[in-house]
Amino acid sequence: MSELFKVTIDNITIEVPAGTTILQAARKIGGEVAPPAMCYYSKLKGSGGKCRTCLVEVSKGSEKDPRPMPKLVASCRTTVMDGMEVKNITSEKVIDARAGVVEFLLLNHPLDCPICDQAGECHLQDLSYEHGKEGTRFEFQKRTFHKHDLGPYIQLHMTRCILCYRCVFTADQLTNKRVHGVLSRGDHAEIATYIEKSLDNDFIGNVIDVCPVGALTDKTFRFKNRVWFTKPVDAHRDCDKCCGEVQLWMRGDEVFRVTARKDEWGEIKDSSKGSTGWICNECRFEKKFASDWTIEGPTQVNRHSVISQGHYVGLKKPNETFEKVMNGREPRLFMDIHSVSEVNKPEIQLSLIHGPAHSDDFKENNKD
Ligand code: SF4
Ligand code: FES
Repeated sequence: MSELFKVTIDNITIEVPAGTTILQAARKIGGEVAPPAMCYYSKLKGSGGKCRTCLVEVSKGSEKDPRPMPKLVASCRTTVMDGMEVKNITSEKVIDARAGVVEFLLLNHPLDCPICDQAGECHLQDLSYEHGKEGTRFEFQKRTFHKHDLGPYIQLHMTRCILCYRCVFTADQLTNKRVHGVLSRGDHAEIATYIEKSLDNDFIGNVIDVCPVGALTDKTFRFKNRVWFTKPVDAHRDCDKCCGEVQLWMRGDEVFRVTARKDEWGEIKDSSKGSTGWICNECRFEKKFASDWTIEGPTQVNRHSVISQGHYVGLKKPNETFEKVMNGREPRLFMDIHSVSEVNKPEIQLSLIHGPAHSDDFKENNKD
């Protein structure tokens, strides 16, 4: 067994194997102690070190060398030392730096959450609420790009991309011919395909799941529904390409979207066979009937997530006091407004009027 190191994060001490990063150690403790991560993805080799949202303060380097580290460090790329002490939410410097990072990430990011498919499950949206400031000091025009269709199933909104490289690593490590990447540098950097080649590999749909923002969206789901109006259920099918274990996002019997299953950090979970539960394009984009799947049951959703809104599993209704208060009279829930008001002229059929209705249509002599 490898050597165990003692590390204290936000005053909570745990022991982790040597070589564990601060971020992974913090995730073992869980909850708020775990720093947010916009580019690190434990299932992707080489990820991390790009976005700086996971910055933490190391107030004691190790037992042997207790000096604090002079600058905040990226917890996803810094391994723990024995006796190390780390401050995350207990450090004012970290909170302040993170607010700065959020401000930077939002410099060019449009505030189009009301129409973005990722709203409700966007890590940048959560990060802004939890660590951002309400204002911006950016006075220039944001970068804008045209939307691009990357193959038949995926659309790229480069304006929303935060250049985390997760989709590039996914394409690199899951498919045999990556045809997209980050082109240009600095303010000109963008995700693009080489001469507009489409991403048509069997596993390329996974880039949608790893994208922390709404830059890569599922064209079979775009604008069809808000995630919090759909109900996620776990389901599986026999698939010869992937594990076939997915989450269906349903409304009634209709399957709106199919995604891989995610863990509490928003990363794709391991499948029941132990490997990462990446799913193939066929499962994701082509199996959109409930009859294609064996449904296991509702997905457990964190109750703080907006996605758990409107799901009434285990609902406890408040005591109904109306009848008691009204001496046994039943509440009148459905009231026909026309029976008490003549204002709207119920006999006038709006559907029979050509074009938009006008006040003249409601005039007494125009009744028929
Ligand atoms: S498209 Fe998404 S996953 Fe790819 S680099 Fe941009 S933000 Fe990251
Ligand atoms: S998650 Fe550590 S730098 Fe992005």
